[in-house]
Amino acid sequence: MKVLIDEKIVNRHEVRVDIEDRGYQFGDGVYEVINVYDGVPFTLREHIARLYRSATEIGLLINVEPEKLMHDILRVIQANDMKNGGLYLQFSRGVAPRTHQYQTDIKPLLVAYPLPYKEMTHAQAIGVPAITKEDLRWLRCDIKSLNLLYNVMMKQKAFEVGAFEAILIRDDVVTEGTSSNVFMVKNKIIYTHPVNNLILNGITRTKLLQLFQENGWDYKEQTFTKQELFDADEVFVTSTTSEVVPVISIDGVAVNTGKPGSLTKEIQLAFSEMVKKETTQKA
Ligand code: PDD
Repeated sequence: MKVLIDEKIVNRHEVRVDIEDRGYQFGDGVYEVINVYDGVPFTLREHIARLYRSATEIGLLINVEPEKLMHDILRVIQANDMKNGGLYLQFSRGVAPRTHQYQTDIKPLLVAYPLPYKEMTHAQAIGVPAITKEDLRWLRCDIKSLNLLYNVMMKQKAFEVGAFEAILIRDDVVTEGTSSNVFMVKNKIIYTHPVNNLILNGITRTKLLQLFQENGWDYKEQTFTKQELFDADEVFVTSTTSEVVPVISIDGVAVNTGKPGSLTKEIQLAFSEMVKKETTQKA
């Protein structure tokens, strides 16, 4: 595997990360996962914009221009002869003697490399079980930070009971999944949590809202409760690598008939057409 480290592309075994890298010690950094379709990154510009936003929010000054970074990402795709799969990209604040506070002039460390292709076709077609868990994360979930400990813990809980995702609930309100945004459909209206500090503003989420508008599907960026989630006609989760995945049971209770909903299927289709259109235009 070829890895971009700062500006260089090297073999994976040549990469060395210092023990005092702040990403390693504090989770002090930001990241993105971009999906690549037939060698073309989808919504690259949007991911890069979010990365710079996350960096700004934690006071990390990215020392590369966005255009150059996008160019380097294309180099990683080419160097790995990537067809389909995720592209992982992270900036850590850099290397410094371990103190919580930091000097603002340390050099951030960039790495980018391909993630193994995750086969999602089956899960997308038949749907997945989910569980619910309390959302005990910090109050800046809008930042795509390397600090994913609670997300990791709750995803593991889901995994251990054979569920795909843990849907997080804060003060009785459904926020998002551990690595996805959550949508529900009730009486033909699609609901998802509004964008604020309690969720990550998913790129897939944003693209879906665009599709809802284009297709005239009613939607509300409005909070809904755990009970409303259980009473939903349809539930689905979205993320870069999993795209649109129907949730067919929650905490062992079937969502409606326990099969992927019809609007969810239409949304999946519209999304894959959008991906096809946008990735072939740029090819
Ligand atoms: N996760 N919410 C959280 C907490 C996430 O980690 C993610 C993405 C999303 C969906 O965002 P997007 O549609 O931009 O991928 C929502 C990525 C894929 C990950 O950590 O692997």
